[in-house]
Amino acid sequence: MRGMQQITLLDFGAAYTQRLARIIRDAHVYCEVLPYTAPLDTIMDGKPAGLILCGNELSVNSPGAPHAPEKLFACGIPMLGIGYGLTLMAQTLGGETRHLEAEEGEIEVKLAANSTLFAKAPASFHVRSRAADHVERLPRGFTATALCADGCVFCMEDSQQNLYGVAAHPGAGEHPASVQMLHNFLFSICGCDGGWTTGAFIDACVQGIRDRVSQGRVLLGLSGGVDSAVCAALLHKAIGDRLTCVFVDTGFMRKGEPEQVREVFTSAFPVHLVCVDAADHFLTQVEGIEDPERKRKYIGAAFIEIFAQEARKLGQLEFLGQGTIYPDIIESGVLPGAPVIKSHHNVGGLPDDLHFALVEPLRYLFKDEVRRVGEALGLPADMVWRQPFPGPGLAVRVIGAITKEKLHIVRESDAIVREEITAAGLDRSIGQYFALLTGTRTVGLHDGARSYDHTVAIRAVTTDNFVTADWARVPHDVLARMSARIVAQVPGVSRVVFDITGKPPASIEWE
Ligand code: XMP
Repeated sequence: MRGMQQITLLDFGAAYTQRLARIIRDAHVYCEVLPYTAPLDTIMDGKPAGLILCGNELSVNSPGAPHAPEKLFACGIPMLGIGYGLTLMAQTLGGETRHLEAEEGEIEVKLAANSTLFAKAPASFHVRSRAADHVERLPRGFTATALCADGCVFCMEDSQQNLYGVAAHPGAGEHPASVQMLHNFLFSICGCDGGWTTGAFIDACVQGIRDRVSQGRVLLGLSGGVDSAVCAALLHKAIGDRLTCVFVDTGFMRKGEPEQVREVFTSAFPVHLVCVDAADHFLTQVEGIEDPERKRKYIGAAFIEIFAQEARKLGQLEFLGQGTIYPDIIESGVLPGAPVIKSHHNVGGLPDDLHFALVEPLRYLFKDEVRRVGEALGLPADMVWRQPFPGPGLAVRVIGAITKEKLHIVRESDAIVREEITAAGLDRSIGQYFALLTGTRTVGLHDGARSYDHTVAIRAVTTDNFVTADWARVPHDVLARMSARIVAQVPGVSRVVFDITGKPPASIEWE
């Protein structure tokens, strides 16, 4: 990001790269991730104060193992090789490495000599894993400053050239020695000033938007989600009413959400807001459709069609704002030299006759940073801390064919679930929680008469990444209140069940 002192992480396929980036940013140092294939010019363009080579589990000598050009190590920028990065550095600079058998359990490390990298760190500590290779012979100019209990090099340094290598990454929750090591690298060796704060980001971002957009106008789709809301608030701060937001109410949003979007973006952030009530149109599009993937396809297509119609009505606006965030950028492979990992819905999608230049103010931020920016800008806390909600919304929480009545049931039940979770103070500890309509009717008793009504399920999961999840141990009294309220207050429900399946094998959504 322009104007920010930065550390660049060169990713050689490490599973922990994004986590390390967030640890560094939490220390108020801005950092970016580039693939190891990025050209040297691109790396140098960012004027990094330091480079970190994040390694993978491979041996440097295994077939297809990624390599780095020798000139990278001569670029004069302080460098820290981690794991594979250590052995790559050693081998490229003329040392010798040998493959190690992976071992179980913790590894003891002892500082062996005066270390710049481990200055002020405890003399011994433990790590959970280390590089696949051992540095048998150090490259010229290097000293081994920490050793594993079996004598293998844990840390090598050439403090004259500011080249450092460690055999294990300083992940979250690791020993304080790792934290100290990372801080030494960032602040003493690279001279970072710790100036990466939410306020500094907002100032730089607002200036960046003004430079890019100049006197132009920006169109932005508001979904009710965190990213588009924060994007709108930032754009509003930068260009005021030259921002036009289109909000398409699909009829599949949760209770209160469309009203909140209208309220926030007409009062606190008064943008030029175009609201389209398209609930009937969307319902017609998915009428009678049971298959979830077909639902998603039709809803996606209807959304693009309506958004494009509104864009055409507004006349040509030069820019399209998008709430793309940093993991989308990393994972969609648009970084220089990166392989495409997965295509992402935020990049592209509009018909060819609509030409826009993109403005993506959040493209350098991780999700938690987006939330912090939203809070600092003054967006309501429940909008900023909103749990993830699928694009097709409640349409995939009515199992099978959708009707207005079923949407009403799921919306009202979901509102009760959310209210009770918030009232119990669990809304920040449970990753996602919602109600869904199972598509099964069961026998019940209502006012003394036999009923045959809908079954609502409550789903609540704890998760770090939404890739795996555990079912949340919601206290029984909270579940009891939800159930009692749903059957009493939502007409057409005879039974409430609680989903006790983890992911895998179950997905978080039922459809
Ligand atoms: P699953 O059900 O795959 O959900 O375990 C993982 C996360 O993805 C969300 N999800 C979606 N998000 N469009 C979205 O934007 C979708 O079609 C969609 N389906 C699932 C889900 O809510 C959870 O957070």
